[in-house]
Amino acid sequence: MAKRHHHGADFVSRIRRMQEVIMANSGVDEFYEIIRLILAKYFAEGEGQADLPDKSECDALLAKHGPEIAFILDGVIELQTPDAIFEEVRRVFGTASIRGQDFTALDQAFEQLTSRSYKADKGQYFTPRHVIDMCVEAVDPKPGEMVCDPACGSAAFLKATHSYGNAKYKQSAELYGFDYSHRACQVAKVVSLIGANGAIKVDQVDSLRLPEQTLLAESEETIEDLMGPDFVGFDVILTNPPFAGDVSAESFANAYDVARATGKRLERDVLFIERCIRLLKVGGRLAIVLPDNKISSRVFRDVRLWLGKNSEIRAVVSLHRYTFLPYTSQKAAVIFAVKQPPALSPYHAEVHFYRSDLAGKTSNGSPAYRAKADPDAPAYQALDHDLDQIAPEIRSVMCVR
Ligand SMILES: C[S@@+](CC[C@H](N)C(=O)[O-])C[C@H]1O[C@@H](n2cnc3c(N)ncnc32)[C@H](O)[C@@H]1O
Repeated sequence: MAKRHHHGADFVSRIRRMQEVIMANSGVDEFYEIIRLILAKYFAEGEGQADLPDKSECDALLAKHGPEIAFILDGVIELQTPDAIFEEVRRVFGTASIRGQDFTALDQAFEQLTSRSYKADKGQYFTPRHVIDMCVEAVDPKPGEMVCDPACGSAAFLKATHSYGNAKYKQSAELYGFDYSHRACQVAKVVSLIGANGAIKVDQVDSLRLPEQTLLAESEETIEDLMGPDFVGFDVILTNPPFAGDVSAESFANAYDVARATGKRLERDVLFIERCIRLLKVGGRLAIVLPDNKISSRVFRDVRLWLGKNSEIRAVVSLHRYTFLPYTSQKAAVIFAVKQPPALSPYHAEVHFYRSDLAGKTSNGSPAYRAKADPDAPAYQALDHDLDQIAPEIRSVMCVR
C-alpha cells in the first residue's frame, strides 16, 4: 500500500527531531525538556498563540501553571535548553498544534520519549489505540462509575475512556490510574492535563501490594490506602499489565491465591489477574490484555480455574499476531470478565470466543489503513482492523444480565 503523509506522523517526527537537537547539543535530559516544551506550547495555544513563544515567555507560561506541573517535571519548571539552541528547537516545533492533535500522535510522541527506559524492562508494550478503543466500547464505562488501570503507563485506557464518555454520555466516568514507575506517572499526568482536562487521577504505587502485606511493612501504601476508607471496589478495570518479568512465588504465596496455584516461577501478569478481580466490586467489569499462553497453555489451567471461580468469563478475543508489532510478535488476547462472589466450582456458562483476523498493521508493524480512510482520523476508524465489529457483541454479553 502506498505510504500516506499525515499530520500525526509529521508531529511525531518533529518531536523526534527536537529530541535529537537537544540531545546532540546540550547535556539536558530530553525527556523532561520535551515535556516542558509541549506544556509551554499547550498553554500558549490556550492563550490564543499559534507559535511556540520565545524562551522567556515560555518560562512565564510554565511558571504560571507551576503548581499543576511541578510533579510532572520533578520541580524543575524552567526550560533548560541553552539560548543558542532554543531558536533551532523553536523552528523545528514550528506551528505544530497540540490542541488540534488527534491523541494518537501525542501517544506516539510519549511512547518515543519513554521507550528508552521501557526497553530496559521487557514486556511493557504500549497498547495499540484500536485495541484500547475496543475494550472501552465493550465494557461501556458510564458517568458516575469508577474506572481504574492499575498498570496505567501513559494512561491510554483512561484517556480513551474519557473521550468515550464525553462523546456518548456527555460526561466521563471517574478515572484512576496507578503505576509504580515515576516516569510513567509523569507522562500519565501530562496526558491527563492536556488530554482529559486533568480528570485522570494518577498515583505512583506498587499495585500488586495487598493490604495484608502492608501490615508487615507499614511504610508502603496500597491502592486501597490511596482510595480511602469508603472504597469498596472499582466498577471497571481496563488494563494491559506487563507481560514479562518473573517474581519469586514465595514472596507472594501467603497473599495471592494464584501464587500457590503456580510453580516456583511466577509471572507478574498472573498476579495482576488476581489483583484486578480483588480491586473490583461484585458485578464489576474487567478487560485485561494478556499473553496468549494464559488462555491456551496447560501450565496456567489453575489460574484460569481461579478466574472462573471468582468471576464470570464472558468473552475472549484472540488478537492478531501483528497487533503489537513492531515491538513484539507475541500473540495476545483480551479476557472480558465480570466479578462474582467466589463460587465453589468454576463458572460453566457460555464464554464467547472471537478471533481478530485483521490487525490494522502490516507484517512490518506499520499501520494498514482502510480503503479511502483519512489517516488522521482516530486509529479505530482509520485502520484496517475488525475489532470494532467484535466490540458491540462483547458489550451485549458484558453489560446485560
Ligand atoms: C504494558 S505497560 C501498560 C501500558 C499502558 N496500559 C498502555 O497501553 O499504554 C505496563 C505498565 O505497568 C507498570 N507496572 C508494572 N508492574 C507494576 C506494579 N507492580 N505496580 C504498578 N505498575 C506496574 C509499568 O511501569 C508499565 O507502565
